[in-house]
Amino acid sequence: MVGDMSFENARVLVFGGTGAQGRSIVQGITLARTKRYRVSVLTRNKNSTQAAALASSFPDVQFVEGSYTTEEGLRNAFANQDVVYFSIDSFNVGEPFEYFWTFRAYEIAVQSKLKWFIFAGAGDRYGKLGMDEKYRNSHNIVSSGVYAEMLGILLRPTENEDGFIFQNPVDDDSVMPLLPLEMYGYRLQWALAHPEESIGKMLSAGPFFVTFPEIAAALQQVTGKKAQFKSITTSAWMEAISGHVDPDRRLPRGADPTDPTSFTFRKSFGAWWNIWKEQKEKKIEDMAWADEVYPERPRSLKEWMQTVGYEGKQIVPLYEQS
Ligand SMILES: NC(=O)c1ccc[n+]([C@@H]2O[C@H](COP(=O)([O-])OP(=O)(O)OC[C@H]3O[C@@H](n4cnc5c(N)ncnc54)[C@H](OP(=O)(O)O)[C@@H]3O)[C@@H](O)[C@H]2O)c1
Repeated sequence: MVGDMSFENARVLVFGGTGAQGRSIVQGITLARTKRYRVSVLTRNKNSTQAAALASSFPDVQFVEGSYTTEEGLRNAFANQDVVYFSIDSFNVGEPFEYFWTFRAYEIAVQSKLKWFIFAGAGDRYGKLGMDEKYRNSHNIVSSGVYAEMLGILLRPTENEDGFIFQNPVDDDSVMPLLPLEMYGYRLQWALAHPEESIGKMLSAGPFFVTFPEIAAALQQVTGKKAQFKSITTSAWMEAISGHVDPDRRLPRGADPTDPTSFTFRKSFGAWWNIWKEQKEKKIEDMAWADEVYPERPRSLKEWMQTVGYEGKQIVPLYEQS
């Protein structure tokens, strides 16, 4: 599917461009200094608030209306494109359909003569963990880091007169790969400019590999307030978030409670935490590579917190309707 190795002036289709990750992709390739890509976004509704916001920030972006869970939507979207950034929103689509439409989309992309099919993320969800059921979650069947912005949402600390406390079901030495959303865009910008080094490869975007005590220390330095981490059980974490999210609600959103292929939030995020609990390695080489992709990037989590103004609270309105 590679064909011509030059992707200068390529026509790039972005799945999920109206969402958190896809917007970063649109931004990264639209603002590429030396290349001129023609960017299209697949959306189910061109008139949504998110589509309007994207159009006002990036007026040259074209919209293709349709769904990637239909043949017609995929064929229309892939017509006259060179590259697709392929990402299925697993929280909306569900595991069986994510598997099916991922394979089907690849077939239709080949038929549509796309030159490059880029999967979002890297690696797989739990293959390296022996496919043990306790790690199986409803996140993408291809995985990636955790958005650093989640520190203001699911991972956020509580605050009281003594300062901040992060309470999550991992160990003191468990490592989370926190990936600022903007890095998705810089990574794709770099990949399009360096196809020989990117095609057929898994590309990391250099997350910050950090433990929760390190996250707390960074927050303490940024705010001047005491911040600490306490390891809790998964059930205590579920109890703590139950004021915001019903742990027994079904994923994908709107799933029939009797559908055996759906997950409860508890099952999915319990497994998600199991993965991070046992992750103890910092992949330093991924961070070094990211310095080439985005030389001006914040070099530490503390620097990132200062750059985006993170002070233990939400910084971007992700998943408002969730
Ligand atoms: N949160 C994290 O830390 C994290 C980290 C890595 C990966 N992820 C993964 O990222 C994915 C979610 O992406 P996100 O964070 O960007 O979510 P998001 O902000 O909720 O965006 C979801 C996007 O999916 C599009 N979409 C949903 N169903 C569609 C369909 N049938 N056809 C076409 N487009 C459809 C939506 O487009 P329209 O509404 O415009 O149609 C929207 O742009 C999930 O699969 C999750 O596993 C999350």
